[in-house]
Amino acid sequence: MFEFMTIRELYEIVYSNNHVEMDSLEYVQLQGWIRTNRDNGKIGFIELNDGTYFRNAQIVYSETVNNREAIAKFSTGSAISLTGRFVLTPDAKQPFEIQITEATLEGDCDNTYPLQKKRHSFEYMREIAHLRPRANTFYAIFRLRSVLSMAIHEFFQDQGFVYVHTPLITGNDAEGAGEVFNVSTRADANYEQDFFGKRAALTVSGQLHAEAFALAFRDVYTFGPTFRAENSNTPRHASEFWMIEPEIAFADLEDDMDLIEDMIKSCIDYVLENAPEEMKFFNEMIDKDVMNRLEKVRNSQFKRMPYTEAIEHLLKADVKFEYPVKWGTDLQSEHERYICEKVVGGPVFLTDYPKEIKSFYMRLNDDGKTVAACDLLVPGVGELVGGSQREERLDLLEQRMEEIGMSNESLEWYLDLRRYGGVKHAGFGLGFERFLMYLSGITNIRDVIPFPRIPRNLDF
Ligand code: 4AD
Ligand code: MG
Repeated sequence: MFEFMTIRELYEIVYSNNHVEMDSLEYVQLQGWIRTNRDNGKIGFIELNDGTYFRNAQIVYSETVNNREAIAKFSTGSAISLTGRFVLTPDAKQPFEIQITEATLEGDCDNTYPLQKKRHSFEYMREIAHLRPRANTFYAIFRLRSVLSMAIHEFFQDQGFVYVHTPLITGNDAEGAGEVFNVSTRADANYEQDFFGKRAALTVSGQLHAEAFALAFRDVYTFGPTFRAENSNTPRHASEFWMIEPEIAFADLEDDMDLIEDMIKSCIDYVLENAPEEMKFFNEMIDKDVMNRLEKVRNSQFKRMPYTEAIEHLLKADVKFEYPVKWGTDLQSEHERYICEKVVGGPVFLTDYPKEIKSFYMRLNDDGKTVAACDLLVPGVGELVGGSQREERLDLLEQRMEEIGMSNESLEWYLDLRRYGGVKHAGFGLGFERFLMYLSGITNIRDVIPFPRIPRNLDF
């Protein structure tokens, strides 16, 4: 008798050292894709991956298998199914092998298949985005993406946060940066005649809508796609990316930073526990410092530094920056990296930025010049999180919107949140892809998104 098994199940049984289960396994059936097939005449070896586990299974075929000739010709990339004997191989590189008794070619793969054994550049792999999940690096990254999503949901759900689905089509630009994609059914820009009877756009952030829910459920989060039409071709920007945006009521900036720090540490624990093979791979093949870095972050307390102090560090830095700084200027990534990599040597929260360089909804500090904002900067990536305490005082919020010319925006509903039982509240946005980059050591955002969206590129 044989049993259909996945390669993950086989590894789990072997690693669990459960002899009763191992002994009961005799013949198994597998389905998967061939990573390599080499035949030395007497005996042949197939490295099979079935999508369930990072590691392959070693499949062996000997002279006694009846369609041996055909099996020896199965090419890299082909889909096959097979039955074979499960044998423990404690002295070999892999803990077990499957000795084929029967194998069938399910889907042939011709010799134009681009993923032959040799390594390809990341640039080349982006041109074959439909095939790259089959290559180790991407296979690892895209499983990590899935595992990290669960880590985030578990972190929030365990503490009773309510998951809110904020809309993707909106009538306002939450960040006020004017970098939105319009949503329209018309060729002209006649918004009055358009589908919604007004200008509509893809959301740049779910925050404003999340705030409405925080004032009902206290602790909420959104986790969904956001869209930005910034024309910046950098390794850290995408036009479509995912953001995690919690919003917490009865909370201030300190509570917000505590939540960010807890979340990051909890997610690190979760991925080390739930994607150990993938993390080991990143540490060996992508960035030899990944594990060490995560371990350090896990055991550190994140530093907190006011923007004003960061400017002082930058002004006395012994480095020639491309963009000069003075109090009041927005920080460029060279500055952010200098602060977290050279001054702090780890994650750092910069707080209390000048109001002019931050969004309208951030709470004004008592100095009248700065707002209760925090950006979390991390080595290698730069800005990972942007958050703030929100302005809950109606008069100050209205005044700010007036000052920056937003008063004609249709945000009465947002102001209502200050009229009807508004309380102090805070929240943040964590860029999901930047977090993946941080966890894996991958340096380009295009390599952590299945089908990345960036300016002048829409091939897939
Ligand atoms: O700092 P941002 O613009 O903050 C907001 O959108 C707030 N509404 C969040 C909130 O308080 N609820 O964006 C938050 C994070 C950034 O720190 C960065 O990690 C990521 O989103 N991000 C991007 N990631 C990839 N590509 C882009 N173009 C990104 N823009 C921002
Ligand atoms: Mg930001």
